[in-house]
Amino acid sequence: MRVKIKRQKMPGLKPYWQEFEYDPKPDQTIAGLLDDLNYKDDLKDINGDSAPRISWECSCLQGMCGGCAMVINNKPALACETFLRDLKGDTVTIEPLRKFMTISDLVVDRGIIQENLKKVNAYIGKYKADENADHNQMYSAAKCLKCGLCLEVCPNYKDGKSFYGAAFANDCYLISQRSGIRKEEITVSYRDHFAKGCSKALSCVDVCPMKIPTLASIAKMNRS
Ligand code: SF4
Ligand code: FES
Repeated sequence: MRVKIKRQKMPGLKPYWQEFEYDPKPDQTIAGLLDDLNYKDDLKDINGDSAPRISWECSCLQGMCGGCAMVINNKPALACETFLRDLKGDTVTIEPLRKFMTISDLVVDRGIIQENLKKVNAYIGKYKADENADHNQMYSAAKCLKCGLCLEVCPNYKDGKSFYGAAFANDCYLISQRSGIRKEEITVSYRDHFAKGCSKALSCVDVCPMKIPTLASIAKMNRS
């Protein structure tokens, strides 16, 4: 099969496409494919030219850390959960998430997701859950990996400067269920940085690898 990878040496440099030939294994994932290419001592592209190792991020290789989020055949997905057998055609295209700054090849800077939470004090800290909180829903919302896939598909999320996206809405819900927290402050931040900009496309729900019930978080927050 042919593997087409969007490459970029460092932030600010022009990206370019590079193609590789790969002998696919039946149960291989995109993460495994990238590893296989990188294991080669002298990686060569389809023209026989030497190619630098491909930068990409991973930690768990089992859909638990969100590090390997990228765009595969034009669809945002986790590389470790995307199997070659499920892809159509004999060419696969792999590129970095497009709404974050590229650091190198498939590695992007998703720091803005955490920075935005810090900006509006939307982090859990020392607070405990309310006794009457819906712990099942809280558990589901807390599974967010901050992978950024929901932001990639969201038609309203641009650069995270004013509209913060689905991951933020889930965290607002989580935090609003804690006692001792300034709930009004969270509600205002939710309205300013999520509710005002959300057009309810809900593409975030379909793409989420953790199947987080974002709609339920939004419904609870909209009532607050
Ligand atoms: S809500 Fe889902 S898709 Fe969005 S960052 Fe969290 S885990 Fe990823
Ligand atoms: S490597 Fe952790 S989610 Fe893919």
